[in-house]
Amino acid sequence: MTTTALQAEKTTGAKLIDGKAVALKMRATQRARVEALQAKGITPGLAVVLVGDDPASAIYVSRKVKACEAVGIKSVSYRHPTTITNEELLVLIGKLNADPNIHGILVQLPLPAHIDMAKVLETIAPEKDVDGFHLYNVGALVVGRQIFPPCTPYGVMHLLEYSDIPVEGRNVVVVGASNIVGKPMALMLMARDATVAICHAKTRDLGQWTILADILVVAAGVPNLIVPQMVKTDAVVIDVGINRLPDGRIVGDVDFEGVRKKASYITPVPGGVGPMTIAMLLENTIQSAERQASGEPA
Ligand code: GUN
Repeated sequence: MTTTALQAEKTTGAKLIDGKAVALKMRATQRARVEALQAKGITPGLAVVLVGDDPASAIYVSRKVKACEAVGIKSVSYRHPTTITNEELLVLIGKLNADPNIHGILVQLPLPAHIDMAKVLETIAPEKDVDGFHLYNVGALVVGRQIFPPCTPYGVMHLLEYSDIPVEGRNVVVVGASNIVGKPMALMLMARDATVAICHAKTRDLGQWTILADILVVAAGVPNLIVPQMVKTDAVVIDVGINRLPDGRIVGDVDFEGVRKKASYITPVPGGVGPMTIAMLLENTIQSAERQASGEPA
């Protein structure tokens, strides 16, 4: 078949992967798990720590807090001005580590430049590290154990599974090599026997890589980075980017209108991966409380 014929045949465009709907669907089960814990006298507790006045972080944190309420997780917010010192932040984390009513601790990133982020993340007790950023949990992921999978890539894995998209043996290209998304994403996909390549800001001729992808995961934070000619026909395209344009619109990293005509599946922004990040945070927090209830070590 010629390329033109193929394109003519693809009149319907990609199926949308509706992360918002999947996240809402998950809530019923999550609520039931919280109720089961409450029947044993345990209310899952999540501490959310926000430092500084980054407006995007404030929005993400308030969404996380609201989602906790919706399933019965008790969230406790700690908002601190940028003037907080490393020591003060570490003391707060120490207190939360010791508090039996707190099952999960989340420190919203990015942190102000004077804060030693690595030290902060390493101070969080690994068994309460629901973001999965502690070295112990990162190491677990490297060797194929998932104790607290980082929420965004965990959400992507869940969306792929929910949409019956097989991963084993497929070429997956991850664009973005951050500790929060790209690297754990690649590890989770490798654990499921995908063939994974990671591209990043220094990758030369990005399109030569992305065109090979059966599944393309983009987490670069660059609007319109991925255009149709960089995408293989019928690829699955997962857009993790959340970018605010000067006109106020929120868009991902993918030229959605162009790429949807070529892909088999695509996630929208907003309403794709974003809601799943929050859903998986709830999942990890409930899991943490369940582990504590059963006396199981992390
Ligand atoms: N900033 C951007 N994504 C995340 C995340 O998943 N967790 C935290 N703590 N901060 C973030």
